[in-house]
Amino acid sequence: MRDYGETRDGQTIQEYSLRNAAGMEVKFITFGGILTSIRVPDRQGRFANVALGFSKLADYEAEHPYFGAITGRYANRIGGGAFSLDGRDYQLFKNDGGNSLHGGAVGFDKRVWVASESNGAVELAYRSSDGEEGYPGNLDVSVRYSLDADNGLRIDYAAETDAPTVLNLTNHSYFNLMGEGEGTIYDHILTLNADAYTPTDANQIPTGEIAPVAGSPFDFRTAKTIGSGQRSAHPQIVAAQGYDHNFVLNRRGLGKGELGLAARAYEPRSGRVMEVWTTEPGVQFYAGNFLDATLIGASGRLYRQSDGFALETQHFPDSPNKPQFPTTVLRPGARKESTTVYRFSTD
Ligand code: GLA
Repeated sequence: MRDYGETRDGQTIQEYSLRNAAGMEVKFITFGGILTSIRVPDRQGRFANVALGFSKLADYEAEHPYFGAITGRYANRIGGGAFSLDGRDYQLFKNDGGNSLHGGAVGFDKRVWVASESNGAVELAYRSSDGEEGYPGNLDVSVRYSLDADNGLRIDYAAETDAPTVLNLTNHSYFNLMGEGEGTIYDHILTLNADAYTPTDANQIPTGEIAPVAGSPFDFRTAKTIGSGQRSAHPQIVAAQGYDHNFVLNRRGLGKGELGLAARAYEPRSGRVMEVWTTEPGVQFYAGNFLDATLIGASGRLYRQSDGFALETQHFPDSPNKPQFPTTVLRPGARKESTTVYRFSTD
């Protein structure tokens, strides 16, 4: 652990490094719980940082597309920035046209988390107070980062509330398995373990439909390049300017807390492979459509469209307004837990 910097309002932010015997190293900061670096070997054993990010705190404090961050209280969109729960209406801050996105004006990605170490893992804690960003209930959240011997980065999320609320937690890392700043991710070969996805309307809010991927650019059940579909004229791809959709993960035969394979990404030049395992029912596959050559990354290169992709494990967007989707309601006395593992290897 070391001091990373000071926020504009004078809070000291720490950076933690986790390293395993194989040499994999992950760094994160107590601001937003942001994963700032994930260093893994290629097939020749050469290490590179495969996560997009910045080199200093001020860049993370400024507006940016959630690089590496814990997103909440509600990851992804809530339509109209509004929902009702137990007969009461709640209005959230609208930061995405008419929607609320990734928690509102000041989401979990911009909060200072309290770190504690145990057995080589680090747990980050944050109390989101009643009424913060319009959400009901004092919510105690913890996010635990750990590394295993087999190059798996494990993220354990837990939350408890003192009044009924809704929540959806994820990590918003962007990956480029060639290395951060090394170009577009079009040649990455992706598999998604999903027979269906949730199509969205013109405002990127799910229509409520669970649509089969078969015969569409959303069919990643057999490995194919990200680039092959990213330029498709499918109306869903046109509307989102590329892939930015929630996939309904196949979880047949899996119990509630059991990890299931969500995705596998393979980059042929480096030989790097990343698998995503999760207990969550969905994953947002976002191909970096809105990276618009305005941000300079950690190694001094400009990030352009599709220079990174995100696989955000989650509950489905707009679930508070979609009773047919798996529930995101948390009530006092219950504990919400989920786990996601990003596992790296080579071909
Ligand atoms: C998610 C959303 C995208 C975009 C990014 C951040 O992936 O679905 O539309 O907001 O976060 O830029």
